[in-house]
Amino acid sequence: MSIEISALTTENYPGFAAHIRRHCRESGKDGYYFMPFIPDDPDQPKGVEIEKLSLPLNNPHWQRGFVAIDMSSGRTIGHVDLKGERLKTMLHRCELGLGIEEAWRGQGLGKKLLQTAIEYARSIQQLEWMDLSTFASNTKAQALYRSMGFEQTCVIREKFRINDVLIDDIGMTLRLK
Ligand SMILES: CC(C)(COP(=O)(O)OP(=O)(O)OC[C@H]1O[C@@H](n2cnc3c(N)ncnc32)[C@H](O)[C@@H]1OP(=O)(O)O)[C@@H](O)C(=O)NCCC(=O)NCCS
Repeated sequence: MSIEISALTTENYPGFAAHIRRHCRESGKDGYYFMPFIPDDPDQPKGVEIEKLSLPLNNPHWQRGFVAIDMSSGRTIGHVDLKGERLKTMLHRCELGLGIEEAWRGQGLGKKLLQTAIEYARSIQQLEWMDLSTFASNTKAQALYRSMGFEQTCVIREKFRINDVLIDDIGMTLRLK
């Protein structure tokens, strides 16, 4: 298979947006929830907002991303995103999001995208911590994050209720420098 990882730009954003729509529909399939949204609710995550891609990194709410593109079809099949925090006093931290479409999981792509995001964040002088949250039930994701050095910081019991499923949420963090 030939998969290319590229920075998310305004040019490849439409392919990314289509991938996010497909990926959102997968959450909850066979009981594997990974997004805090009710399937089929029109209120779904955007992943990254195109206008925030160009915000400077010293501006709260900046966003950046990388996409994995299957070169044989031109289809975006995975992404990783980094988001700046909402306060100027938190600009040394960023928040990570990651997702691979089902057919492409378990082939090393999640790890590759995560490594790309960590390498990028380490190259940015101001960034010292990378944070994320993941459902307690998402043991696959936690194993990946732990293998890359993330440590658990907290558990919030029943943070989400998706229909009648109660979901505990886990906070994890990685010291970048
Ligand atoms: C979690 C996710 C990003 C992992 O990506 P992936 O491409 O499937 O993972 P990789 O093939 O790169 O594997 C990396 C590591 O993940 C863990 N992992 C992957 N699949 C696993 C499985 N079925 N069971 C347990 N651990 C698993 C392992 O630690 C693995 O490392 P190893 O191969 O050295 O054992 C992917 O499954 C996914 O997109 N899931 C849905 C969305 C999601 O959960 N996003 C994260 C929300 S916080």
